[in-house]
Amino acid sequence: MPELPQLILATRNAHKTEEIRHILGHRFEVLDVRSFPELPEIEETGTTFLENARLKALGISNRIDGWVLADDSGLEVDALGAAPGVWSSSFGGEEGNHQLNNERLMREMAGKTDRNARFRCTLVLAKGGVEKGVFLGTVEGSIAVSPSGNGGFGYDPLFIPADHNATMADLGADVKSRLSHRAKAIQAFVRELETGNLVDF
Ligand code: IMP
Repeated sequence: MPELPQLILATRNAHKTEEIRHILGHRFEVLDVRSFPELPEIEETGTTFLENARLKALGISNRIDGWVLADDSGLEVDALGAAPGVWSSSFGGEEGNHQLNNERLMREMAGKTDRNARFRCTLVLAKGGVEKGVFLGTVEGSIAVSPSGNGGFGYDPLFIPADHNATMADLGADVKSRLSHRAKAIQAFVRELETGNLVDF
């Protein structure tokens, strides 16, 4: 069997890696930067998803051979003026603490009638420090009053996708890998691959 092409994700978030593996199926050998302990942490100093995804994609692909894909993503809540947005992972005061993030979201949304929200995902593909593509995905939905479900990660227990009556965490991995912001961005990447425009992949 021919070797699968490698795709290196510019993330240490095991959930993102698992989800992208699940969405891509058997097209790639998907690794992430946890396999390259010599790589530095890339600081996310941008103010948009695109800026941060670029920083990660270029910062990592400058240092290793191969195709690098960076995911920057987050939650935008209309009643909070699109917060937490790019600051989704530290909204509760501590980087990557999903429980604190969800507690703050529930506090801020208490009594709010407009509960519309969306997840956004921006992917940047790069090789040798050169940007090769940008792929976007969005999923619309609303913020639940209380958390429910054990699937997914982050804000999934509080996010109800449009046209569903359960949270992303209740819906589980197979449904999430079809309808999530990340799934849609990866589908856009796969469509670009299939056009043959990414010739040396
Ligand atoms: P990043 O690592 O800077 O892209 O931060 C992403 C943050 O956005 C995560 O830590 C979560 O808080 C949130 N987030 C992104 N994607 C998802 C998702 O699929 N489900 C739930 N929360 C997510």
